[in-house]
Amino acid sequence: MIVVAIDGPAGAGKSTIAKALALKLGLRYLDTGAMYRAVTFAAINAKINLTDQDLVADLTRRSEMVLTNDAVFINGLDATTAIRGVQVTSAVSAVAMNSQVRTELRERQRQWVTDHKGGVVEGRDIGSVVFPDATLKVYLTASPLVRAQRRVAQSGGNVDEIAQGIAARDAQDSSRSDSPLVQTSDAAIIDTSDRSIEDVVSQLLKLVLAKS
Ligand code: DC
Repeated sequence: MIVVAIDGPAGAGKSTIAKALALKLGLRYLDTGAMYRAVTFAAINAKINLTDQDLVADLTRRSEMVLTNDAVFINGLDATTAIRGVQVTSAVSAVAMNSQVRTELRERQRQWVTDHKGGVVEGRDIGSVVFPDATLKVYLTASPLVRAQRRVAQSGGNVDEIAQGIAARDAQDSSRSDSPLVQTSDAAIIDTSDRSIEDVVSQLLKLVLAKS
């Protein structure tokens, strides 16, 4: 079973590269950040205080989530657009810090890979915690300016403001006690700042094929 773990900070190119790589390998792609975002969306909708860890965790365990290559449903609601909005984006780090939520989502991520007989999985703790025995671990990064510019090109906004938001989320994701964003010593570390998607994907394809 081939499992490719792709981790890295926001705007490093994870989603684009993971999707393209999955297509080339004939595997499915799982965006674990979308799962944290979907829980955040459901908690906001249910008017749950996001700092109430037990309530948010309980909601997570009770929620049914469906992730396809381009849509996210939670409890029957199409959350695809809303999970990328400002409200969810600014609140999601609080949910991602909740250890009970992480435990539940981690189990679902492992189950998803078993059900799909492998996959390309992107997130922050995929190579370090969720799939420590992944076929290939990749840590993607890019300069802060390039990352902010990519987000603006995707969803609009002001580069300086977006850069500040990204820096704040990076700091929270890297400093939380439960499964922070880290580079593992066995990951291929790739800076995507000055490289094309095709170039990075073809490098990763070679690395996977060499290992499988
Ligand atoms: O990749 P993203 O921006 O959609 O991720 C949303 C948030 O979820 C971000 O704060 C990082 C967090 N996250 C995480 O803690 N663990 C993961 N495996 C994926 C995302």
